[in-house]
Amino acid sequence: MSLSYHKVIAQAPSNIAFVKYWGKYGRQYPMNPSISMTLKKCLTEMEVEYCLDSNLAKITSFEFEGEQKPNFKKKFEQYLEDIEDIFPLSKRLSLKIKSKNTFPHSAGIASSASAMAAFATVLCEIEANVNVSEFNITRASMLARLGSGSACRSVFPNYSVWGDGIEELGSNESGVEFKNFHESFSSLEDTILIVSKDTKAISSSMGHQLMHGHSFREARCDQAKENLHSLIAAMESGDFKTFGEVLENEALTLHALMMTSYPSFILLKPESLSVIDLIRIGRSELGIPMYFTIDAGPNIHLIYPSEFKARVKEFLEQSVSDFCESIIYDQIGNGSEILK
Ligand code: PMV
Repeated sequence: MSLSYHKVIAQAPSNIAFVKYWGKYGRQYPMNPSISMTLKKCLTEMEVEYCLDSNLAKITSFEFEGEQKPNFKKKFEQYLEDIEDIFPLSKRLSLKIKSKNTFPHSAGIASSASAMAAFATVLCEIEANVNVSEFNITRASMLARLGSGSACRSVFPNYSVWGDGIEELGSNESGVEFKNFHESFSSLEDTILIVSKDTKAISSSMGHQLMHGHSFREARCDQAKENLHSLIAAMESGDFKTFGEVLENEALTLHALMMTSYPSFILLKPESLSVIDLIRIGRSELGIPMYFTIDAGPNIHLIYPSEFKARVKEFLEQSVSDFCESIIYDQIGNGSEILK
């Protein structure tokens, strides 16, 4: 008897955090609240064929950019097992997965957020098909969180808050869309200055772990809440200067936390510091409202309003590109999407 397979295709973007999530507890709950911008071009596209047959393996094949990846298959099977209590359908599903990214491998861009957001979107769509119910984006965000914390923010358009700590906005269970931003925040750019493609010396899971015994833990949680508060107020009123100051403070705090944990990690490269210097000089001398943020790696994300793109490009080409292996121009995006 031939098995009956159905297909779902979904895509989800990566996101860049403005207030950083660093440290987790329990079942992927964040120690502090965070906010991010959803990207547009750095995407994972996932094509999944599924059938309901609990006698088959949960995942029969996992192809990533044309190659079978047994380690991805194992990781995703483990994830499906871990969520059985929350997503009971995973006991009955058998999946064939094909996945690809629109951004280059090892460009130092976190691909777990886009991959887990895409997979959670697929799972929710399958659930909606099987139960003849509506697709639920908050549920997709919650399932994405269980795969990779920051992935829960990638399903929403524009901006997303995750974590308790700010009245009425945000929950530890899933991300929520932040909609109340000033129109001047409706078209921001994220230009990613790749200073090194080297793989990270520290996985984010290990980094989150190191926050447990960290001397600055409590102060960090208070600071993140205060920063989130100020950043949201700035985004609501259109105050780009305050927004940018908080943005840079958050990036440098994340790295300060890594430098001062046991064991300690320095992920910034000399080029990262040179680029930071040039951005600050360029900002004051050229009067371009551009501010940096940094993830758990050496690459610098430059955030600025779209109307300055041509001037920023000129500045980067003249002063910064010598320090970079490559430059990716991304911008604010629409969140995850079901393509089929
Ligand atoms: O979602 P994870 O476990 O990969 O952690 C992401 C952590 C940061 O990217 C450094 C910050 C964030 O909020 O995205």
